[in-house]
Amino acid sequence: MLDTSMTRGSGVDPARIASLRRAEMAVFEAARPKSKAAFGQGLAGFHGGVPLHWMRDWPSPFPIMVERARGATLVDIDGNRLADFCLGDTGSMFGHSPRPVVQAIRRQATRGLTYMLPSDDAAAVGRLLVETFGLPFWQVATTASDANRFALRVARAVTGRPKILVFNGCYHGAVDETFVRLKDGRPANKKGLAGEFRDLAENTEVVEFNDLPAIEHALARHEVACVITEPVLTNCCMVLPEPGFHEGLRRLTRQSGTLLLIDETHTISTARGGYTRRHGLEPDIFVLGKPIAGGVPASVWGLSADVAARYDRYLESKESGYSGIGTTLSASPLQFAAMRATLREVMTDENYARMEWLAARLKTGLAKAIERAGLPWHVARVGARVEFICAPGPLRNGGEAQAAHAPALEAAIHVALVNRGCLIAPFHNMMLVSPATTSAQVDRLISAFGEIAGALGS
Ligand SMILES: Cc1ncc(COP(=O)(O)O)c(C=O)c1O
Repeated sequence: MLDTSMTRGSGVDPARIASLRRAEMAVFEAARPKSKAAFGQGLAGFHGGVPLHWMRDWPSPFPIMVERARGATLVDIDGNRLADFCLGDTGSMFGHSPRPVVQAIRRQATRGLTYMLPSDDAAAVGRLLVETFGLPFWQVATTASDANRFALRVARAVTGRPKILVFNGCYHGAVDETFVRLKDGRPANKKGLAGEFRDLAENTEVVEFNDLPAIEHALARHEVACVITEPVLTNCCMVLPEPGFHEGLRRLTRQSGTLLLIDETHTISTARGGYTRRHGLEPDIFVLGKPIAGGVPASVWGLSADVAARYDRYLESKESGYSGIGTTLSASPLQFAAMRATLREVMTDENYARMEWLAARLKTGLAKAIERAGLPWHVARVGARVEFICAPGPLRNGGEAQAAHAPALEAAIHVALVNRGCLIAPFHNMMLVSPATTSAQVDRLISAFGEIAGALGS
């Protein structure tokens, strides 16, 4: 049964949403007889029928069974071609299998895949990271979740403080202490966590994004080691920083001796060097995962000279033993080969210029379609990352973003877009433009969205 409260603010009649969803689910299924048979009731051998339970979170009747993906096009085993705007939820932000990355992987494949020793590529990547992102000292991990976890450990070590501060509605991966939300204005564990018996709010402060007085208040007790944030909240409906927010955040963190960790895993859509470089942010710690190695699992975390020096002093005084930082397959030659190719040949200013141009066209096209349909929705964008939000905007914080979510409506639109040849992210209405995305694909998405919005609107 549809929860009508979920469609609050979208301006769409729940009955119309339900009927669109029903019709589009049937079209999806009819176009995929092989996928339906191959998936069956779920893939044998996997708990829940899928190798990662997130694959059950797509709103279609069963997941798309992929045959291959190249550039910005994905083909399923039934031969349906999709313009891919999900791009592995950012892991393939630069397109599937970018040629320089494929060549680098091929070259490395016969030279050993993991040694726990540095290589020539590692030396080159060290220099490229400094040059691209500005911070002087780096470490490599395998996922952005790990990179955040390790970086937060360093932040606590150097400040000697127990707490962190997050923004309501944030997501930084599988990092326990970030799973805290404001519930009726008070910090509480995020709902739905599996096997969590601790009160995570004991060591995590949570305030709303764009709320400088709340940050000042939370940092005043000098217990917070680190503020961890994306420069733009992208894991709820997109929330952009208000003018002066980042300057204020930096001032308040410095005043209170709190470190600032900027997680660019999604906002790397902004430009080479991320939102940080484009907007002159000055983080103490910088984290980037997902597309940094063109789709090969890898992440990086960088430290300012000051934090690195403090960490060196801390290490001299720390009793010997495992630091809690590092995993065996991190900093592998395969990661370095792929990262070197990505940083040098894929994450280029030319590629970003094209992504920016096409993403701007996408945003304008979607906004016009919304206006034509007479719906109270809006579109937000950070570089190559575009999102339509089925509620009025702009959103100021995670609380507003939560209220703007319209899951039943978003699910219906998602499946309807797939049926018109366009794949967007399953969790919210996120669309990424890669260097391989064509203007014809963007125009197809605008027109498909316009058709669906028209049917839902007045
Ligand atoms: C901002 C941010 N940080 C970290 C992560 C975690 O990335 P991963 O799942 O690759 O560990 C995500 C994932 O969506 C993210 O959006």
